[in-house]
Amino acid sequence: MPEVAVLAVPTVGDDGSARLPGTPADDFTDLLEREQAKGSPGEVVAVPSSSPTRLLLVGTGAGTPTDLRKAGAALARKAKDAEGLAVDLREALPDAAGLRALVEGLLLGSYSFTRKKEPKQRALTAITLVGPTDQAALDAAISTSIATAAARDLVNTPSLEKTPDWLARAAGDLLQGCDVKVLDEKALKSRGFGGIVGVGQGSTRPPRLIEARYDGAGSRDSKTHVVLVGKGITFDTGGLSLKPNASMLDMKGDMGGAAAVLATLRAVADLKLPIKVTVLAAAAENMPSGTAQRPGDVLTQYGGRTVEVLNTDAEGRLVLADAIAYADRDLKADVIVDVATLTGAMPVALGKKVAGLFASDDALAAQLEAAAEASGEPLWRMPLVEDYRVALDSPIADLRNIGEPKLKLMGGSITAALFLREFTGGRPWAHLDIAGPGMAGSDDDEKTKGGTGYGVRLLTAWLTELARAKGRR
Ligand code: BES
Ligand code: MN
Ligand code: ZN
Repeated sequence: MPEVAVLAVPTVGDDGSARLPGTPADDFTDLLEREQAKGSPGEVVAVPSSSPTRLLLVGTGAGTPTDLRKAGAALARKAKDAEGLAVDLREALPDAAGLRALVEGLLLGSYSFTRKKEPKQRALTAITLVGPTDQAALDAAISTSIATAAARDLVNTPSLEKTPDWLARAAGDLLQGCDVKVLDEKALKSRGFGGIVGVGQGSTRPPRLIEARYDGAGSRDSKTHVVLVGKGITFDTGGLSLKPNASMLDMKGDMGGAAAVLATLRAVADLKLPIKVTVLAAAAENMPSGTAQRPGDVLTQYGGRTVEVLNTDAEGRLVLADAIAYADRDLKADVIVDVATLTGAMPVALGKKVAGLFASDDALAAQLEAAAEASGEPLWRMPLVEDYRVALDSPIADLRNIGEPKLKLMGGSITAALFLREFTGGRPWAHLDIAGPGMAGSDDDEKTKGGTGYGVRLLTAWLTELARAKGRR
């Protein structure tokens, strides 16, 4: 007989104690009281029983999407090695947003990645929802969760395997049904992608620019072309400006931005959104070697601007600048959003759970803030301080790749964003610095230790809304 966990839904009463909604067949009031259950989101009370079927009561707090996402993740972890999990929603059916969040919590909380010789055999493989349901909410939850898991897999793969070419092939596998083109090192060199080439030249594993397109807009005449750009550094040693070992430990995840935008395209295609989206993933391995770029070198970015590379560890902006310039000059993007684990200063400012949002356009910033709220992937808007722009002036090139330290202006995340802005050609542009939330140090609600897939839910929510708003016009 399969082991099944059942969800009942206590909510927080005015007195801070858990109670069950509706009139459940069994009354667990005494049990909840005895356990001093509060009904807080993710709190789990097991009903004592000798039956092989476990019965769990899970707190859903005030029933907000965030609470339900937590509850789903807690339940998934409790049911980790159960054969199946059934969730009884008959007495407490959440609304569409709540249902989506609950299912995201269930699916993302049960994600795992292992390279153990003998992985645990039992894993949760079936989830049943009992009660009336909402297909659109389920589709959104399932598509974004599958895509998020794909992004996590890409991030969690060790860099021994994960070369730029591996990432390009993985993108092709992930994005079957989309148009995927890859520029190799020869093409990058001949076409003038000096940033990607410069960063990648220290590695024996050459760089790639991955371009993937989904066009669900068909023949609509007023179609917005969205270009998503991702930082795809498959390992960041810092290059000749070498990082200490402790700072390198998470650097297989320095392609988290690329993983997020590639996986978002998977979700967008699965949901058949009526929009046109191109993804650019700028992939390179930042290594020190006899062929590596040196501090003081001057490279030429795509489009012709020159950059004095004063710190080879500020490599993300160099690969992104090429891709953003390409989005501007060749793709003529209507809107550009880049996602990058760009600066160590970002989690210093906002911590591990919140991404920094920089935007040249207030309407775009507001759309992304709304998507963050709806998806439960938090971000905070940061300023593009014009007075810091002087820190990027170089006496010998058009730009320097780090702010001039002598000016003592600090604000490393801001100068990095200002650097990127130079390549946007004045197009509406937003930059998400996910150096904090791209990786998690431990399991935490729907997030699992390692790659989080941060950005997939956020961007999919944004694009879903964009498609809806276009449809109304
Ligand atoms: N990939 C790092 C940023 C990073 C740090 C991401 C920690 C995630 C966690 C980036 O390439 C980098 O090295 N940035 C430098 C920039 C500096 C040299 C101006 C940094 O933040 O120290
Ligand atoms: Mn770096
Ligand atoms: Zn980096």
